[in-house]
Amino acid sequence: MSRQIPRYHAARWDEPVITAMGQSGRRGLMFDDAPEADGLVPAALRRAKPPELPELSEPEVFRHYLHLAQMTLGMQGVSLFGTCTMKYNAPVSEAIAWRPDMAETHPAQPDETLQGSLGFIHRLDQMLRALSGMDQFVFQPGGGADAAYTHCAVTRAWLKARGELGKRDEIITSIQAHPCNPATAAAAGFKVITLTLEKNGYPSLEQLKSVVSDRTAALMIGNPDDMGIYNPDIKEWVRIVHEAGGLCFYDHANFNGVMSRLKARELGFDACMYMLHKTFGAPKGGNGPSVGAYGCSAELAPFLPAPVVVQGADGYRLDYDRPQSCGKIREYFGNAQQVMKAYAWTAAMGAEGIAEAADLSVLANNYMDARLARIRGLARSHPEITVPRMEMTRWSMEPLRQETGVSVLDVQRRMTDFGIDAFWLSHEPWLVPEPFTPEAGEMWSREDIDRWIDVLETVVEEAYADPQTVISSPHRQAIHKLDGAHLNDPARFATTMRRQRKASGAGGRD
Ligand SMILES: Cc1ncc(COP(=O)(O)O)c(C=O)c1O
Repeated sequence: MSRQIPRYHAARWDEPVITAMGQSGRRGLMFDDAPEADGLVPAALRRAKPPELPELSEPEVFRHYLHLAQMTLGMQGVSLFGTCTMKYNAPVSEAIAWRPDMAETHPAQPDETLQGSLGFIHRLDQMLRALSGMDQFVFQPGGGADAAYTHCAVTRAWLKARGELGKRDEIITSIQAHPCNPATAAAAGFKVITLTLEKNGYPSLEQLKSVVSDRTAALMIGNPDDMGIYNPDIKEWVRIVHEAGGLCFYDHANFNGVMSRLKARELGFDACMYMLHKTFGAPKGGNGPSVGAYGCSAELAPFLPAPVVVQGADGYRLDYDRPQSCGKIREYFGNAQQVMKAYAWTAAMGAEGIAEAADLSVLANNYMDARLARIRGLARSHPEITVPRMEMTRWSMEPLRQETGVSVLDVQRRMTDFGIDAFWLSHEPWLVPEPFTPEAGEMWSREDIDRWIDVLETVVEEAYADPQTVISSPHRQAIHKLDGAHLNDPARFATTMRRQRKASGAGGRD
């Protein structure tokens, strides 16, 4: 089989930042005088002088952003960005989100004028209930970590109602759980107990038993974890924590490989979260906007953040009357457009499509595993575990680094020279040295996956033959290797133009 190596070179423009462009007096659009006189803006709040905005014509603005897009988005390669379940975001969903009856509504409008939005929020809630076995979902959290925080807030409210707040003050998690689990537990005032991994790739039941007590508030755990390892003892874990009087929260960010194959509630969990911007096809790129769907049992439902969308005899309404609610996690009912896109994805897939997608994602990963295992310099994490992984596998380039000096970050950069998106490594701390975690999900074709692996194999061979080419990459991108040191140096980084001007000695106010 001959390798499929794409030829690629990014566009490169000498493009100044927009504030350094244009000419005084040049305009794209002419507006009537600003309606200052009508008193809309109180005098004390008005600017003394106009803002220093760049002055450009419309074609200049268009050309500038096109050039930037060519340099940054021109690649649109194959992204096997593991632990993130990258999905195709259908333009039809975008088109619906832009309709005025979506885009120009406000959640504070009377409920009877929001029936469309509330209706699909309710219907997605029903669909997620069917997938998880939970009794109620809310979409207020602004991402997966926010949903983990929601669980901590719900746990506090639940403990308070039982008179146990302050007594049960420990949350148990594992070193391999996503860092947002211990972080949100700590942010909500809990003491965090972190279990370590043992020979199977997860903590043992004995370890869990040794830490549960009458101080246990909750377990927060994901399964499969980011290494693609599924803990088969999970039901027993839940039983042990329940016996000690704590709640169990399932971080279902890695849901893709087990969609419709298991239900969190049937495993005994009291609550779970899904990420609509991962598994359910809402956009993820560019870091958002994201939604963490938080679902729980009927026992915990009174403690959910308000408002909750409910269906009554007269249609849908926002229920704010929830005296035991943990309060707000975000405004109103969350990002309705993202919920709509996830609803569109879920409805389009249907129950059969979702089950098939789960199987395809596991199949794709195990196909990749078989090919990656034949490439020298690579090692599967926990090589002693021979059972197949789920929808992703954490791999290591430690042998490659030892033999050639080329690191996983060097390989990642060099692959972009062939039009392949940077892959995901692993959260810090790197428990697996030189880690990388590709995840294909169900959306990439076999040719895409083969092309991705062909490029990886080519770069690894290059590392053995000519390591410097890989170490000094990228060579075919708009910019070359960056020195990231200034990102950790407050004296040098700038998050605004004003700060940049000041840092570079060009003056300006802070
Ligand atoms: C397992 C797991 N849990 C939680 C999160 C946090 O989600 P978010 O980035 O939306 O806050 C992630 C993010 O990738 C994750 O992989």
